[in-house]
Amino acid sequence: MSRSPSIGIVGATGAVGVEVIHCLEQRHFALSSLRLFASPRSAGKTLSYAGRPLTIEALDDKSLAGIDIAIFSAGGATSRTYAPPAAKAGTIVIDNSSAFRMDPQVPLVVPEINPEAMFRHHGIIANPNCVTIIAAVPLWPLHQVNPIQRIVMTSYQSASGAGAAAMAELEASTRAYLAGEAYTPKVLPHPYAFNLFSHNAKVDPVSLYNEEETKVMQEMRKIFALPQLRVAATCVRVPVLRAHSIALNVEFERPMTAVQARALLAATPGVKVVDDAARNYFPMPIDASGQDDVLAGRIRSDLSDPSGRSLALFVCGDQLLKGAALNAVQIAEALMARRG
Ligand code: A2P
Repeated sequence: MSRSPSIGIVGATGAVGVEVIHCLEQRHFALSSLRLFASPRSAGKTLSYAGRPLTIEALDDKSLAGIDIAIFSAGGATSRTYAPPAAKAGTIVIDNSSAFRMDPQVPLVVPEINPEAMFRHHGIIANPNCVTIIAAVPLWPLHQVNPIQRIVMTSYQSASGAGAAAMAELEASTRAYLAGEAYTPKVLPHPYAFNLFSHNAKVDPVSLYNEEETKVMQEMRKIFALPQLRVAATCVRVPVLRAHSIALNVEFERPMTAVQARALLAATPGVKVVDDAARNYFPMPIDASGQDDVLAGRIRSDLSDPSGRSLALFVCGDQLLKGAALNAVQIAEALMARRG
């Protein structure tokens, strides 16, 4: 690989793909060339990078030849078809889908947590699920000083996690609701405006957890390298456009005060403490949207555990940035930094 890599974005027209382009641009990623891929529907259209138009190409099995790093955000089926041959041919794939996350050969990486794992790749590096990343970033520094024993978490997930079409559905159904018009959902299974519902992923008939919850639980164990970590998740879709919120109840090995946790989080890169009890001002998705940092607040003792070993907190992170595009670009940056 040359010092400045050639980069490909697969799914460049999607909600995450567009943010990958912005992240590369804003972070002045040193690349030698950028190519954009999407479905044949988008071929020939253009998107702008660094002030110039780039033509979108339809992805096929020759598209990625000669590309050093390909960032995939086009869903699991596209990743399963195109990522393994690309990796075999020498492209490093950073994959935003869930297709390879639990493959033992594939590192699952949050650069603030397990950066070393990415260098053990065999051509594919997986970007974790957005809820996993947004929860893991603020929990990791706490775990470093006082090992986590158990996590109970509930997510409040925005439309962006279901892609650009779901964001459009939230806007269109809200407009219809306010106009008193009927709206038939096309992307999500339930009415979205002024409503919320259990995450739309399939529910396992035995465990009764949906696939999103299962991903979050499994991925948290893999990233933290804690295969026995006790974690339970409830994932809920809420009518918010692009940032996810998560309520976390965390039990540690030893007592941990809110003051200690707040100080640790205040010193953590990638986390911003928003915890103003006097003003009742805490993390909100509207504030997290467009921000790289995960916002953490409502840090307090979990009174259901009188031992003092449990804390409750509330975090928000931009699903499209740290939850997806930014994390992928940070992985690419770390790969290039290691090459010196
Ligand atoms: P397109 O816009 O041409 O449909 P989102 O997650 O926002 O729904 O975006 C999905 C992204 O994946 C889009 O860029 C979409 O392109 C792309 N995509 C969907 N199917 C394919 C495919 N078969 N090959 C390449 N890209 C695809």
